[in-house]
Amino acid sequence: MSLFASAVLQAAVAFTVVGDGIPQPLTAQPGDAARGRAIVANRQQGLCLLCHPGPFPEERAQGTVAGDLAGAGGRWTVPQLRLRVADARRLNPASPMPAFHVPPTEAQRPGRAWVGKPVLDAQQVEDVVAFLATLK
Ligand code: HEC
Repeated sequence: MSLFASAVLQAAVAFTVVGDGIPQPLTAQPGDAARGRAIVANRQQGLCLLCHPGPFPEERAQGTVAGDLAGAGGRWTVPQLRLRVADARRLNPASPMPAFHVPPTEAQRPGRAWVGKPVLDAQQVEDVVAFLATLK
């Protein structure tokens, strides 16, 4: 059984990293911040709150091993947020944060936690990024 109970996900898309970000959106459709908030708060899907606290007054028992997501949109640009959500290990190979969206060829490398399908598909990454960008 997978750690992540996921709905039907689209295959991962390739992306280009420039500096410490991904400047191009992964999808033509802009991210939806409300859907992104739901993904971040969902304990089966995003798992973000396993590690991060955030501005979710309705959620009990939030994580303490990673930084508060509050203010993330002020600390990081949208391209920086996109890379951190898609594949934090590109920035820190030892990061405990899961790589949520790794393109297929990368995902097939040994040691990758999730082979074949991404934890979050491209639209979900864009939704999460749109939500994080509102956290100023
Ligand atoms: C297993 C723990 C874990 C999970 C799950 C996790 N993260 Fe992280 N995250 C971290 C850690 C630790 C860092 C600190 C940087 C590093 O070590 O890579 C981090 C860094 C970040 C950052 C940049 C730091 C900052 O200032 O905000 C963002 C944004 C972020 N995570 C968002 C998310 C989102 C959104 C999710 C869910 C889709 C998520 N994380 C899931 C552990 C986690």
